[in-house]
Amino acid sequence: AYAARGGRYTSLTRWGKNAQGDLMGTLEIPIRVGTVGGPLQSNPSAPVSLRILKIKSARELAEVLGAVGLAQNLSALRALATEGIQLGHMSLHARSVAMAAGAKPDIFESVVEKLIDSSEIKVWKAREIINQISDQKHKEEVPEVLIQRTGKEELPTGYGKVILFGEHAVVYGMHALAAPVPLAMQAKVSDAEREGVHLLIPRWGVEERIKRGQDHKYSIFKSLDLILDELGLHEKNMKIEVYPYVPRAMGLGGSAALAVAIIRALSEHYELNFGNEQISRLAHASETIVHGKASGIDNTLATYGQFLLFRKGEPPLMEDIKPQKPIRIVIGLSWTQSLTAKMVNKVQSGWEKNRQLYDHVFEEIDKLTLQARKAIEDYDLQRLGALMNINHGYLNALQVSSRELEELVEIARSNGALGAKMTGGGGGGAMIALCPDNAEQVVKAMKDAGFKAMITDIG
Ligand code: MEV
Repeated sequence: AYAARGGRYTSLTRWGKNAQGDLMGTLEIPIRVGTVGGPLQSNPSAPVSLRILKIKSARELAEVLGAVGLAQNLSALRALATEGIQLGHMSLHARSVAMAAGAKPDIFESVVEKLIDSSEIKVWKAREIINQISDQKHKEEVPEVLIQRTGKEELPTGYGKVILFGEHAVVYGMHALAAPVPLAMQAKVSDAEREGVHLLIPRWGVEERIKRGQDHKYSIFKSLDLILDELGLHEKNMKIEVYPYVPRAMGLGGSAALAVAIIRALSEHYELNFGNEQISRLAHASETIVHGKASGIDNTLATYGQFLLFRKGEPPLMEDIKPQKPIRIVIGLSWTQSLTAKMVNKVQSGWEKNRQLYDHVFEEIDKLTLQARKAIEDYDLQRLGALMNINHGYLNALQVSSRELEELVEIARSNGALGAKMTGGGGGGAMIALCPDNAEQVVKAMKDAGFKAMITDIG
């Protein structure tokens, strides 16, 4: 009403430059503000907020409200003057609409994605989607074992993975065994009228215009920058949408899978006819940005999605592993993100100081990996489990495990897993446990201890 007091709805803010050339904004608006009184005392978050803000009077609170209003106004002006409110905040908007429509946490991300896909970011549409998904969920049995989690079958895909043996040692030329997991990244590329490359990952709330050569804060933008450069696509106007089903930074190969999905989608859209080898190579270059010194195992698995014995090289060794029957494992997730780049650097600096000791550990891990291949061929799971335990011990010696990973390993072993070890870069992230007969019990124990866990069959 105050904004329309002159008979026309108008702006309450004024923006300009002050004498020093700094941006200066003013906002004048009458607001009734109180910091004491009945209703305020009954809302526990009110006194907490006042304490956080160190506010002593209603006047100070009014000043903060004014400052927040100004900051929001500036953001809105910026969006209006550049990409537009709707486009610039589509996923944010979709998230608040999904919340307003009452989407529960277990279906929230799917509702957001479908809302954006529908281009009708409205509460009624969100309710419709919630009903559809809930109906579907009722019809399906909730799967105990992880099934392929890709939303859109037809989209270009990069696979997530678990390393069963040989992480870190593989960077130093040793063998490693790795298998795909039924969690994948998918991407879609479409032409855009708006200038530039627009990256949209609704599940992660990412909506970003990628500017060439910019000093990017996040590794994903850096790696996309490199991919576009290598493919000579920087000048194209495009929208890249990513649908991630691999948990982020959990040592399950999410970043490589993301790179592979995007490269595949770009190759398909621009008819570059990239084969797997080219895709894997480019994803390796992008992984090198993310991980520093990458062996190539993550991009290989993300591209081929096969159970492999791997050794780095030009070309790398890729030997198919075919167990007689699928091998049941539990994947336990810690609450800390995997710090692959940091852990790879840590191992490197340890190696530089104690080459002989470290080389010895790497060689021992190599022997375990090759024995594990034999145990898989013979389907000797007792032996495979014992080898996993010892591999974990060596990784611990390299100091790439963490308190939470140790706890998960301990939970698995004390609940009857045949073997358990961390997987991937470590420092956080995931661990795996070999559980042919008692996977449900191990998952339950992990969940009871407050962790996330899932069952999957490999091979
Ligand atoms: C990360 O998934 C595996 C590491 O061995 C790094 C690499 O091989 O690039 C830790």
